[in-house]
Amino acid sequence: MAPKVRVHHFAQKKAAGEPIVMLTCYDAVTAKIFDAAGVDTFLVGDSYGSTILGYASTIPVELEDMERATAAVARGTERAFIVADLPLGSCEASDALAVESAIRLVKAGAEAVKLEGGTRRARTIAAIVDAGINVCAHIGYTPQSINALGGPRVQGRGGKAAEERLLADALAVQEAGAYAVVLEMVPAPLAVRITESLDIPTIGIGAGNATDGQVLVWTDMAGMGDWQPSFAKRFGEVGAALRKAVEDYCEDVRARAFPDPDHTFDK
Ligand code: KIV
Repeated sequence: MAPKVRVHHFAQKKAAGEPIVMLTCYDAVTAKIFDAAGVDTFLVGDSYGSTILGYASTIPVELEDMERATAAVARGTERAFIVADLPLGSCEASDALAVESAIRLVKAGAEAVKLEGGTRRARTIAAIVDAGINVCAHIGYTPQSINALGGPRVQGRGGKAAEERLLADALAVQEAGAYAVVLEMVPAPLAVRITESLDIPTIGIGAGNATDGQVLVWTDMAGMGDWQPSFAKRFGEVGAALRKAVEDYCEDVRARAFPDPDHTFDK
């Protein structure tokens, strides 16, 4: 097993031009598989709500959901660096609440927390960092603001002012002490500009291939559903393989072909 990934490794990777591999993860079973596959950093994203819990968006996800998922991921992980999302409602009311929520995620097993928002969240990021907790920022399309943003839409598009706003967000979260920033649904040329303007690594999702790292939602990249966003490549057809295994099981049980003598205690 390669050595444990720590927070300082991300800056080293940016300096060396070595891409950072981030993938979402929500439980111990998949954490073991993804860890063995060599993922650098897990995001226990609040996409847990839409991918696993069956919600239509990340909005209903509670801090308790994130604590449970983070603890499960931590139990299945040896090498990858674990980042957990602060869900909607866990950090907006006050910086004190945000610090308390971040501490709960760290106690559950997170090595960093992620929160959505740029300039408007800089003070909160600084407060969490001041409490000794690593923060990954998240700008561009921020799913917790789906209603305010008018749906999942590319951000930083439509003129110089929008571009400058997003760059200002990136600089603000860096200044606040974030160790990395996720850029979601950002035009590739703007992602290049932001990546070149920052000392901290950028991790893209729908932001082109020149960011310092990439993140995808694992159920999208593994083909667990019928649909995935246009920027998410299907690297496998795990959903179809799982369905086939379950169909075979159903068939064997109904035909009394399972359990066979190899799976039976005779004495
Ligand atoms: O919750 C999540 O999975 C995320 C990614 C989309 C970056 O925040």
